[in-house]
Amino acid sequence: MKALLVNDHSGKPVMEMGEVKEPIPGEYDLLVKIKATALNRADLLQKRGKYPVPEGESTILGLEMAGVVESVGKQVTKFSEGDHIFGLLGGGGYAEKCTIHEDMAMLMPDFMSFEEAAAIPEVFLTAYQSLIWLGELKDKETVLVHAGASGVGTAAIQLAKHLNHAKIAVTAGSKEKLDLCRSLGSILQINYKEEDFAEAIRNRFGENSMDLIIDFVGSPYWESNIDCLSMDGRVVILSMLGGVTVEKLNLIPILRKRLTIRGSTLRNRSVEYKKRLTGEFWEKTEQLFKQEELSPVISAIFDWNDVEKAHQMMSENRNAGKIVLTGM
Ligand SMILES: NC(=O)c1ccc[n+]([C@@H]2O[C@H](COP(=O)([O-])OP(=O)(O)OC[C@H]3O[C@@H](n4cnc5c(N)ncnc54)[C@H](OP(=O)(O)O)[C@@H]3O)[C@@H](O)[C@H]2O)c1
Repeated sequence: MKALLVNDHSGKPVMEMGEVKEPIPGEYDLLVKIKATALNRADLLQKRGKYPVPEGESTILGLEMAGVVESVGKQVTKFSEGDHIFGLLGGGGYAEKCTIHEDMAMLMPDFMSFEEAAAIPEVFLTAYQSLIWLGELKDKETVLVHAGASGVGTAAIQLAKHLNHAKIAVTAGSKEKLDLCRSLGSILQINYKEEDFAEAIRNRFGENSMDLIIDFVGSPYWESNIDCLSMDGRVVILSMLGGVTVEKLNLIPILRKRLTIRGSTLRNRSVEYKKRLTGEFWEKTEQLFKQEELSPVISAIFDWNDVEKAHQMMSENRNAGKIVLTGM
């Protein structure tokens, strides 16, 4: 089958079409003809050799897909040939075919396109896990979502609004991105390039007012994040786009405010964990997607032959929501 592979051009990694063996489905797996996949920041790192592939996973890029079931393993009971499905992958999305365990696949709602379905798994499952499982978000709590117009951010805003009626504040780097966040359900939009987000939060919600913060920025935001957190506040760190080292760490507020600091990566979780996460997520959200209360936000769709242009767009932070590849 065809797949996009990373080739080295005088020290520069470039995605190029190549030929690889078709994956072989296990007893509980579906063999899927991929119709669309979507980009994640991890792809950019993996391409540069900076994201080790978890053991046993495909070394081909691509952490999610939507497609048509071509055949099923002997023990599969939930899906059959011809079903339109989508789901999370440990790798292998940038290819014509992949395999997925039946418990990690979700049946696409009738009206949904492959491009829309492919834009859901990684960011919605990450956001669900971060808000509900790790962040223990409760009804009507306050949430600050950094990088609000990122793929994960756009999913987190929608889930916090529709599952928890949360009061949501966001940061992002442009008016267009902040307008998008408002349209998805945030009530305070902060351009972090123009104002101090901690001050904006204090002015609107008061001192120590955020019950939960979803952070992708890391060290430059550490101190302000801790300042904004409420008593029993939680911060879930998913990425460190702005830096990894905090020079001076004052532990007092962590004790005084009884804070919980959590970090997570979804990709290196066990298959069992991802099956449980997918099952619970789809049980809680399928109806909301069908009623279009929840929708993937798609910034751009590229033919998979133009993958380099798609990667360029993400690396320049020009996307608001997901970038999708199609045409496999
Ligand atoms: N831990 C996990 O399980 C997990 C899972 C999925 C994704 N992630 C990570 O979460 C992050 C978001 O993923 P995504 O796919 O949603 O990304 P994305 O759609 O590409 O969005 C990332 C956005 O972050 C903002 N940003 C970039 N550098 C920044 C900086 N230094 N300071 C402040 N904002 C910055 C940019 O928006 P502005 O224009 O607003 O600055 C950028 O568009 C990525 O780093 C990704 O690797 C982690």
